[in-house]
Amino acid sequence: MKLAVPRERRADEARVAASPETVRKLIGLGLAVTVESGAGAKSAMLDDAYAAAGATIAPDEAAALADADIVLKVQRPLTTAEGGPDETALIKPGAALIGMLAPYAAKAQMGDYAQRNLKTFSMELVPRITRAQSMDVLSSQANLAGYKAVLDAAVQFGRAFPMMMTAAGTIAPARVMVLGVGVAGLQAIATARRLGAVVSATDVRPATKEQVESLGATFVAVINDEFKQAQTAGGYAKEMSEDYKRQQQALIAETVKKQDIAICTALIPGRPAPVLITEDMVRSMKPGSVIVDLAVEQGGNCPLSEPGKVVVKHGVTLVGHLNVPSRIAVDASALYARNLLAFLTPLIDKETKALKIDRDDEIVKATLLTDEGQVVHPAVQS
Ligand code: NAI
Repeated sequence: MKLAVPRERRADEARVAASPETVRKLIGLGLAVTVESGAGAKSAMLDDAYAAAGATIAPDEAAALADADIVLKVQRPLTTAEGGPDETALIKPGAALIGMLAPYAAKAQMGDYAQRNLKTFSMELVPRITRAQSMDVLSSQANLAGYKAVLDAAVQFGRAFPMMMTAAGTIAPARVMVLGVGVAGLQAIATARRLGAVVSATDVRPATKEQVESLGATFVAVINDEFKQAQTAGGYAKEMSEDYKRQQQALIAETVKKQDIAICTALIPGRPAPVLITEDMVRSMKPGSVIVDLAVEQGGNCPLSEPGKVVVKHGVTLVGHLNVPSRIAVDASALYARNLLAFLTPLIDKETKALKIDRDDEIVKATLLTDEGQVVHPAVQS
């Protein structure tokens, strides 16, 4: 079985789907691995290192993908409508394609995969069960994004984070508020604390209160009956009632005006991101404050943040970088590559060294989008 790792071609994508470390292990599973030349260059993983790990280096994408039975990607293949090349057309019919295929945002592409008879697996859909923790790309990437968001804030902030007592006077510590305390938010709290900031945080899921406090931050939230039931069985947040939103906005307005930095990470699966920092709240913040909106790709937690831009409005710098994990590509690639290795290992039959897909397996069921010429995932069937 041949496994291929092409170079990612989307703008601002610096990650790669395999590292020299995982290539060695994939070969250990009995696979022949081909890496497109330059695939890891933006993640400091050079062709020589892949070759030393046992990979064949292919000069271009067509050569890398030719005859590949398994293709590992970071992002979904480009289409001609997006300015091409049509990467799906380069993949052999019947092959398996594994990556972050954005099934909801790119539903139209499912038909292409089915038509090409590809077995496609979407890593964002890996269930958050104990057995699949090592495959959880949302967590591995969000954790790094939370860290990087605080550093991006620090770069824009014209002041220091820690309290400093100097001969020339005392510098007060920065006050940081983290909105949304999932994987990214928790890492943002920990990072801001390590830099010496005074940190507060808010979320609608009750479980986060203890997590916030255990990291040495203050928990700020409207705690009522609705809050106590805001977590779904899957561990995610629900969309809150209008009444709750009003009370939450009043509380955030009071808190945010005293902050220097806000790190926004609040998301609701399958819905636009909740608006938590309104224009009036931005106006109430001190000049020189910074808002980093990690939710910007889902509409943003602040309506003033702009996708892919750093803008200054009402004296506040709003940071709306896209694809933040790619901004810390070396570690993001290393962890993503390990997630893919963990996902693929149980799919390779130990004796025949071929793909063996058990459609009844919980992880396969949750991630398989197309198979045998059909769109099989209920969430993306049209
Ligand atoms: P996410 O990226 O979907 O959302 C980020 C945060 O925003 C969440 O904490 C959510 O409660 C919060 N949020 C949503 N609406 C809000 C609002 N109106 N105001 C304030 N905050 C709001 O979440 P993520 O990071 O994917 O984590 C979701 C859950 O999954 C958590 O319970 C986490 O502990 C759990 N998890 C479980 C894992 C496992 O068991 N393998 C691995 C990773 C996460």
